[in-house]
Amino acid sequence: MNMTIRNSAELVMKLRDSLKGMDSSIEAAIAPPFTALYHLSHLVADSPIKLCAQDVFWEREGAYTGEVSPNMLIDIGCQYVIIGHSERRQYFCETDETVNKKAIAAVKQGLKPIICVGESLQEREDGKTLDIIKRQVEKGLKDVLSGQMKDIAIAYEPIWAIGTGKNATPDQAEEVHNFIRNLLYEMFGLNAVADTRIIYGGSVKANNIDVFMAHANIDGALVGGASLDAQSFARIVKFQKLK
Ligand code: PGA
Repeated sequence: MNMTIRNSAELVMKLRDSLKGMDSSIEAAIAPPFTALYHLSHLVADSPIKLCAQDVFWEREGAYTGEVSPNMLIDIGCQYVIIGHSERRQYFCETDETVNKKAIAAVKQGLKPIICVGESLQEREDGKTLDIIKRQVEKGLKDVLSGQMKDIAIAYEPIWAIGTGKNATPDQAEEVHNFIRNLLYEMFGLNAVADTRIIYGGSVKANNIDVFMAHANIDGALVGGASLDAQSFARIVKFQKLK
């Protein structure tokens, strides 16, 4: 819940300039609040920047006051949607079941979900990280078809690392990403998920992105605080490949 339309438009104009000449194999998207999406869709139209929403509802239309459907997001130029961010789970009663309903509705209507999973500090200290991730991935992707996995990305975001300045170490992230990759193989078969992106989120910054991206199973980043500054976000998008 950051920025007015004017603030976000200024940020996107700067970002467009900073991302000129960006490597075309990299995909970059911005996820502003609902109120700014439509305006920003025009500003990113002739740029490599794609548009992502921060949440979605699972019905297509009807009497669901306050909700926004996948179809409506597509209508204003969104390609992606974040589903199950830990703040939605924590403050807005999001469960694995609602994450699942949203994910299925999104892919069905043509929107690409980025499904967030992650453990709390207590769960990590109790040695339950992989159990929690397994439950969130299995329930979040229940009844998803193998053929739909090409449109779904998973974001591993340890709750204790979000907005705290305390990132997971790249090795901790890699361990969980590797676990998720193997779980997806078991659930959907190698072919269906060979290209599935597993991205890391939680205090990703311009000064730590290169090390995260050097790990085999870290395919990208979900960036919060550091995306509110065009220069720092652009540096993250244009990460340096370490040998
Ligand atoms: P952060 O946020 O980068 O500020 O830790 C990540 C997120 O909100 O997903």
